[in-house]
Amino acid sequence: MKRRGFLTLAAFAGLALAGCGGNAGSMTFGNRLRIPELLDPAVGPDGVKRFDLALQAGQTEFMAGKPVPTWGVNGSYLGPTLRVRRGDQVAMAVFNRLSEASTLHWHGMRLPAAMDGGPHQMIAPGAIWRPQWKVDQPVGTTWYHPHPHEKTALHVYRGLAGMIQIEDGPTGLPDRYGVDDIPIILQDKLIDSDGTVSEHFGGTFGMLGEQIVVNGTYDPFLEVTSTRVRLRILNGSNARKYNLVFADQRKYSVVANDGGLLPQPVLTDQVSITPGERIEIVVEFQPGESVVLRSASGSDDIDDGDFDLLKIVAAARLDSSAAVPDRLPARPPIEAVAGARVRKFTLSGASKINGREMDMTRIDEVIPAGAREVWEIENIVYAHNLHIHEVAFRVLDIDGQAPPAWMQGPKDTVFVPGKTTVRLAVEFGTHTDPVTPYMYHCHILRHEDKGMMGQFVIVPPGTEGSVSRTISMAGHGHH
Ligand code: C2O
Ligand code: CU
Ligand code: CU
Repeated sequence: MKRRGFLTLAAFAGLALAGCGGNAGSMTFGNRLRIPELLDPAVGPDGVKRFDLALQAGQTEFMAGKPVPTWGVNGSYLGPTLRVRRGDQVAMAVFNRLSEASTLHWHGMRLPAAMDGGPHQMIAPGAIWRPQWKVDQPVGTTWYHPHPHEKTALHVYRGLAGMIQIEDGPTGLPDRYGVDDIPIILQDKLIDSDGTVSEHFGGTFGMLGEQIVVNGTYDPFLEVTSTRVRLRILNGSNARKYNLVFADQRKYSVVANDGGLLPQPVLTDQVSITPGERIEIVVEFQPGESVVLRSASGSDDIDDGDFDLLKIVAAARLDSSAAVPDRLPARPPIEAVAGARVRKFTLSGASKINGREMDMTRIDEVIPAGAREVWEIENIVYAHNLHIHEVAFRVLDIDGQAPPAWMQGPKDTVFVPGKTTVRLAVEFGTHTDPVTPYMYHCHILRHEDKGMMGQFVIVPPGTEGSVSRTISMAGHGHH
């Protein structure tokens, strides 16, 4: 309360808040939250859902009247939301209309490595990449963003990202897109008073901006019209961690983590998400009230400062929503199976996993298809996180302690605080390809770009020993 009082006073006195860290108390919430368009696929006679996505340059006014150059997918900043169902056959056409090569990675999707959109699937300027796969994973919220080797920070920061929502039968949760089921893409920026967006990615963590945009909207408000609203929150920032609280400390129900539903809703008043993570919450509103969603400052270097993120304004009359179900149709929890192989990874400095930086030609790990393993991630320095492509995992423990209840659902990205060891029960996929790797990496994009990333292949069980540990780079990319 004391700190908040100080900040409000500082804002009132017109003092610059930069340096204190945070924007709390200085926002006016004057801009209606933009809801990304829901992209309708073209469905052919074969039943395949076809989505056209174009990476393109444009201009965006984060500050009214001050357009700045940005990138987007089918627009000038961010991209449309894709809704797909389990069992769908999807075909993407990704057009690169930028003047440089990029990729589009489907973060959180379970798919063959050649469709993954990582650094081995570069799309040259003017080229089209056409990945296709069958959606076969539970209800959840995933996303897409570029993954070019050493350039992911810049490409994501400029605006290339969007949400993918997977459906699989009724959940009992609000699901009317943009009405009571709201995408919330959190990103921070460094925006000068003339509207210029800085692209400084130096320092230990790279970009830690002082301005927040939600779905590309600066200083946003959201009007809600029902008593319960589901927020699908994606941390699409380069480095910033958000400790999500409401200004009035109200409790909310956490219903899903990155990879799908929790078995039952968890009531809490604070959750944290680091870059790449998703969390879904259901919040209750009274008619006519308003409340601010904030990020409370923490002690992890990437969460300094109190930030007001979004003001939510409830209409004077609200439609009444169904109660949040006591139990959710979640996938079975991922258990650490007896005798599971344990792989250990040490994160050090800003760029190393097990003492090595990323090498595009080196396979670091060979995994048998369908494996259940325990990955032990030891972070000997400052804040990092770890994202593994193509998997679902459950956090077993954090320095030997059970994770908070709200973090016990399926995930693909986990915060690893400084000087901490996190153990994961990991479920690997079954699409085999001995020559095309998936990635695992820190999702603080500066670290990923500097080389805090490794590569693994998934191979038929029993063939691990005969797999080549080097990749030929000849013929990479689509030219
Ligand atoms: Cu969200 Cu390998 O990335
Ligand atoms: Cu990913
Ligand atoms: Cu890191």
